[in-house]
Amino acid sequence: MALGLQLWRQVLAGLLLCVCVGRWAEAGKVLVVPMEGSHWLSMREAVQELHARGHQAVVLSPEVNVHIKAEDFFTMKTYAIPYTQDDFNYFLMGSFNMFFERVHFLTLFWKTMTATKNLSLAFERSCEALLYNKDLIRDLNASSFDVVLTDPVYPCGAVLAKYLSIPAVFFLRFLPCDLDVEGTACPNPFSYVPKLLTRNSDHMTFFQRVKNMLYPPSLKYLCHFSFTPYARMASELLQRDVSLGEIFGSASVWLFRGDFVMDYPRPIMPNMVFIGGFNCGNKKPLSQEFEAYVNASGEHGIVIFSLGSMVSEIPEQKAMEIADALGKIPQTVLWRYTGTPPPNLAKNTKLVKWLPQNDLLGHPKTRAFITHSGSHGVYEGICNGVPMVMMPLFGDQMDNAKRMETRGAGITLNVLEMSSGDLENALKAVINEKSYKENIMRLSRLHKDRPIEPLDLAVFWVEFVMRHKGASHLRPAAHDLTWYQYHSLDVIGFLLAVTLTVIFITFKACAFTFRKCFGKKERVKKSHKSKTH
Ligand SMILES: *[C@@H]1O[C@H](CO)[C@@H](O)[C@H](O)[C@H]1NC(C)=O
Ligand SMILES: *[C@@H]1O[C@H](CO)[C@@H](O)[C@H](O)[C@H]1NC(C)=O
Ligand SMILES: *[C@@H]1O[C@H](CO)[C@@H](O)[C@H](O)[C@H]1NC(C)=O
Repeated sequence: MALGLQLWRQVLAGLLLCVCVGRWAEAGKVLVVPMEGSHWLSMREAVQELHARGHQAVVLSPEVNVHIKAEDFFTMKTYAIPYTQDDFNYFLMGSFNMFFERVHFLTLFWKTMTATKNLSLAFERSCEALLYNKDLIRDLNASSFDVVLTDPVYPCGAVLAKYLSIPAVFFLRFLPCDLDVEGTACPNPFSYVPKLLTRNSDHMTFFQRVKNMLYPPSLKYLCHFSFTPYARMASELLQRDVSLGEIFGSASVWLFRGDFVMDYPRPIMPNMVFIGGFNCGNKKPLSQEFEAYVNASGEHGIVIFSLGSMVSEIPEQKAMEIADALGKIPQTVLWRYTGTPPPNLAKNTKLVKWLPQNDLLGHPKTRAFITHSGSHGVYEGICNGVPMVMMPLFGDQMDNAKRMETRGAGITLNVLEMSSGDLENALKAVINEKSYKENIMRLSRLHKDRPIEPLDLAVFWVEFVMRHKGASHLRPAAHDLTWYQYHSLDVIGFLLAVTLTVIFITFKACAFTFRKCFGKKERVKKSHKSKTH
């Protein structure tokens, strides 16, 4: 009896040990190197979920930043950079006003160029301050992280992962200049995969296909000064030649914030995972303030208006035009706006400094969503089935708007050229014409019909990479080929040479035989002829 009890105790102790060790062994250490701005607000949700699953996250950020603030679900590690908060705000946020100014195309181009240069330089300095900070690097190296989670739009995290030999998971919407295509070694035919920023759909006319082919090379210059500094840093640190392709090709898994309800079907690779809409799941009841607005809106319901986390003020003239249009619809409008209220603001329009966008879009009384069509917002519109009026400003926003428009789920307006009447008509159309609501509901049903929630999928792949120390079995061998091997130009050249040689030899042989057979006769004939003369 006593023996039995003792045995039982041992089994129980063993079981407990198993459980504890099991749990302890599963918890991993994630080093997060985020991209500043709205990109961080996306990644933040993934970090929060990783924390909820028992993992430990350390977020690396420069001391001076805009959106990356300390929170209780991660440890923040900061490092000094040679910029003041004002510089940084100016570089990051100062340029947004230019998207509302009506200027000559070349002026806009030049301004975009210098703003991008300034911003790129700020990020480059920030990355240098991180990578050449010996104490910080020693500290990070000693912490033995299991994975680096980073947005490769700021390639510093990718370089850091390579330097510390930690597997990396990329978390992104896209990389410009086809750097993501290069990094994933994914086939990407010009003929039906629309290139970024072209505003093409997947069905292109001949000239759209010409544009599709010419666009990436023309952007190369911008990418050159934005991205090559990271190849230089990687080469210096690793003391060998490291190309950008190698830096981007080093990711174990790519988590793309897209899916094939918003984006067009195209080829993918085994380590490309699509997590568009991962930000929709986390829904909370409305606060008193917002519930009161919704309740007071009556049968007409509400319209949500936000231009994203980066643009919360616009020039007064534009703001007045917009306010005028908003006053002409019967719905209550909740507008995220921090500037001085336009003097002509109508009674139905409430300005708020911040709004719980996803929760409000999920309310059955929400009729329409006015958005800058950043991917985050567009997915919240899709998940909640709210038709959109889109005012794209920069980056992939024009492309996102195009995708929604071709699906009949919204109307795109040019923020520079639109009049107050255009906005009013667009709003009335998406609210009153049934097709917009039907189309967005169809997209919503398609988007939600899936075996696993996108946030769970994202966390699964981060854990997968931690468990297996990378995912080298998913890495296509294309990365190890030269460009002429990849396109089989050497093989084609070889086969061509063989074919030509065979044709040449055959021809020569024929010519020789021909001469042997007919040459004699001719000579015979000739000699015969000459004799008869
Ligand atoms: C770029 O930076 C320079 C110097 O810091 C500044 O004078 C210029 O106005 C900036 N340009 C833009 C478009 O931000
Ligand atoms: C990290 O630590 C390992 C082992 O101590 C060492 O071999 C390696 O050089 C270190 N890496 C860096 C970047 O300091
Ligand atoms: C809004 O209306 C609902 C249902 O009528 C009610 O339960 C809730 O208390 C109201 N909320 C506010 C803040 O008035």
